[in-house]
Amino acid sequence: MKILPEISRTLSEYLLIPGLTTEDCTPDTVDLGAPMVRHRVGEDPAVRVATPLVSAIMQAVSSPALAVALAQAGGLSFIHQNQRIEEQAADVLAVKRHKAGFRTVDVTVAAQTPLGELARLLADTEHGLAVVTENGEADGAFLGIISRDDFHLERHGALETAGNRMRGREGLMTAPASVSLSDANELIWRHHLDVLPVVEGGRVVSLVLKSDYQAHKTYHRASVDGEKRLRVGAGINSRDYKDRIPALMEAGADVLCLDSSDGYSVYQAKTLEFARDAYGEDVFVGAGNVVDGRAFRYLAEAGAAFVKVGIGGGAICTTREQKGIGRGQASALLDVVQARDAYARETGVYVPLCCDGGLLSDAHMAVALAMGADFVMLGRYFARLDESPSRKLQIDGQWYKEYWGEGSRRAQNAARYGQRGRMAFEEGVDGYVPYAGSLYDTVERTRAKLTSTMISCGSTNLRDFHRDAVLVPVSAESFKQTGAEVQLRRPAIDAGE
Ligand code: IMP
Repeated sequence: MKILPEISRTLSEYLLIPGLTTEDCTPDTVDLGAPMVRHRVGEDPAVRVATPLVSAIMQAVSSPALAVALAQAGGLSFIHQNQRIEEQAADVLAVKRHKAGFRTVDVTVAAQTPLGELARLLADTEHGLAVVTENGEADGAFLGIISRDDFHLERHGALETAGNRMRGREGLMTAPASVSLSDANELIWRHHLDVLPVVEGGRVVSLVLKSDYQAHKTYHRASVDGEKRLRVGAGINSRDYKDRIPALMEAGADVLCLDSSDGYSVYQAKTLEFARDAYGEDVFVGAGNVVDGRAFRYLAEAGAAFVKVGIGGGAICTTREQKGIGRGQASALLDVVQARDAYARETGVYVPLCCDGGLLSDAHMAVALAMGADFVMLGRYFARLDESPSRKLQIDGQWYKEYWGEGSRRAQNAARYGQRGRMAFEEGVDGYVPYAGSLYDTVERTRAKLTSTMISCGSTNLRDFHRDAVLVPVSAESFKQTGAEVQLRRPAIDAGE
């Protein structure tokens, strides 16, 4: 037994001390771009992100819709691996096939689905229409489209079926998968359509909506591959990797990541070895999670593309209470950063670090990046947004979105927690987080704050920020001062009401 002399510290125990801000340090010159995969020091990595934010490998977070939005905003999502291999590969494919202005099909029903159920589904998901398919699933044969305007519950009854009110496929104008956005919009306007289904092999692969015509924007920071397709990552595990990795590679995943609460294991090394033997330089597999330099070096030597740092800090995490393992995120990060830099000096290979879990604010992200993280992985942050797959609901007048841990009974992700079959105990909770609006606005705000922090510290890129940042631990008294109570202004009281 050995006891480390240090105290395990969290990110909120540190503050940044401003550095000299020079005239060439402005919002336009600050570059938040970060390497995502291992590369030789001084060379360009094969995968970079313009926004150093990635979404957690979680059911409640990383769906194709969120992955598209985050890639457009310059980050990257990891489609979760707690689903069948074919389903996960289809999610990856949906992102790779995404074309700006073309929406993924989010709501599908069967012809027998009662209108009452359909209405609830549309309300819960805030969608205006559903695709009707033979089996009610997204991969089923296309039968028709039904929108909120095609039925009225009082007039048609909740038990009437979607099939009886849908606009059948025969009467609908459709387009082939090769259609361009401008041709699709041309058809929509010429034929007075509200929706144009894009069909391939009898299945709807995407929808072009008239209502999106105005909203269509170009995303100058988007994470795209050499063929201008959006980039997407995918989680894998160290059990079914021999089947999962080939399926995800076939679907076009740009980066893979081992999804485990404790990554310091021979199983991760074996998975990395399999990927390297099968795909050589064409595959990038991140590994983790780890909380010290030993574990970092083990995974770096095993070929990890990047290493994820953090055990027990996640917002929904109960690992520390359940198993007594973990480490404060700041202590873990500082230890692993030292090991990463030593490894780069010795070998000439830079293995990026991802700070994962427990980042409760933009300030935490700034501190993590200053300490040496290359990018951050966020669960709660993205779960709160419109684009996440979870349900939005109102409790006591406030809007929330559901958020549950992969170690919760709801997720049943036994592979992530090294448990066999059904989970014997939980390492995560199932709950709600306050709804926070659109991903595009939220990520833009975070970018603005990170940029502003870097300007205060006099850095124009993350490499300089790692080198030049000066941090200081804060005392318990400073915490108290930060928390001094001020009655916040409320417009109704100010107006004397
Ligand atoms: P958050 O950003 O604080 O919500 O943390 C998200 C991270 O928590 C994920 O990327 C995982 O590493 C971790 N995580 C996800 N589900 C669980 C769980 O059920 N228990 C413990 N950690 C979890």
